[in-house]
Amino acid sequence: MSNPTSQLLDSIADVGIDHTRGGYSRHGFDRTELELREWFTAEAGARGLDVRPDRNGNLWAWWGAPGPDAVVTGSHLDSVPGGGAFDGPLGVVSALVAVDLLRASGFTPRRPLAVVVFAEEEGGRFGVPCLGSRLLTGAITADAARALRDADGVSLAEAVRAAGVDPAGLGADPEAIGRIGCFVELHVEQGRGLVDLAAPVGLATSILAHGRWRFRFTGQGNHAGTTPLEQRADPMLPAAEVVRAARRAASTVEGSRATVGRLVPRPGGTNVIASTVDLWLDARAPDGVATRELVERIADDAEQAARDEGCELEVTRESYGDSVVFDDGLRDRLAGLLGDVPALPTGAGHDAGILAAHVPTAMLFVRNPTGISHAPAEHAEPDDCARGSAALADVLRGLAG
Ligand code: GLV
Ligand code: MN
Ligand code: MN
Ligand code: MN
Repeated sequence: MSNPTSQLLDSIADVGIDHTRGGYSRHGFDRTELELREWFTAEAGARGLDVRPDRNGNLWAWWGAPGPDAVVTGSHLDSVPGGGAFDGPLGVVSALVAVDLLRASGFTPRRPLAVVVFAEEEGGRFGVPCLGSRLLTGAITADAARALRDADGVSLAEAVRAAGVDPAGLGADPEAIGRIGCFVELHVEQGRGLVDLAAPVGLATSILAHGRWRFRFTGQGNHAGTTPLEQRADPMLPAAEVVRAARRAASTVEGSRATVGRLVPRPGGTNVIASTVDLWLDARAPDGVATRELVERIADDAEQAARDEGCELEVTRESYGDSVVFDDGLRDRLAGLLGDVPALPTGAGHDAGILAAHVPTAMLFVRNPTGISHAPAEHAEPDDCARGSAALADVLRGLAG
């Protein structure tokens, strides 16, 4: 049955549909994400919230004057390429509906309350996930961020300037962090944990360590028909080996995951032996030591495969975030407010994971019946979305009342 949370989510269902890939492609500071920011500004404004961008292009909507010890909730509006409708927007929509529920019950927060939309959480455009929260907290330097470029060569500095954010102002924002008393992010679950537990809503316990590495193989571009096999230096061969090496290594390092989801041969002609291949490794493990072991094994195999084919290899770490254990005290508080809800770990990264190093942070998950995420089949039933918003309202009432 339709309800305010599903209706609000439906109201952005036309924005950023990817007709080529399926699902949604909404990336930081692109046309679709800017349209969603305008939508958010209008929706928050209609609720009497005071919307202010911060220095890093994140949007804050305040109920009451911005102040210290604020209770903050929210998520992101960007997606992976060809992503689902829920990852990100569900947390934003649920926050707005939670405000409506609190208002309707006559509640007025005693602590400042804010809904935040973080920029470029997926790193789908500039390669670094949680870019808005990393900038805010100083987990990436302004110089490093400004130099990031998208696939068309547009720098982050140029993209934020076009969106009305001064690139000179990017960077750690202790004043903004200093206002956050605690942060609670609601998110669609990205696995089957809650399905298996037959629970509509859960709490997060931890996030895996997570990094992204670029592998660049350089060989010799040449003719696919005339070049004898023994004279080739084809970078696609070691690249293919990395895909298998990633699976092999992840199956031996306990609790880890390694994925090659993006591979770009250049120049990219069917009848052309590539001159270079870039591929990106997404590696996750229970801690930094295990992540290093995982990536070293893959890189060693990649080196060997490059040598065997007469190619060069350059490996560059593009981002890394250590494993996160969410604040026990805050989780206990939420469990007390929500009653009987399960707590479970996740392998997915979130802005909440970045903020957790600075302020007490918690996450609410909403059941996903497909268990699929970062793909169009991601789903949450309307009834569960409504339960999520109601749970978030209960949490905000308990924390801000
Ligand atoms: C972000 O959603 C990630 O975990 O990759
Ligand atoms: Mn995601
Ligand atoms: Mn997300
Ligand atoms: Mn994420």
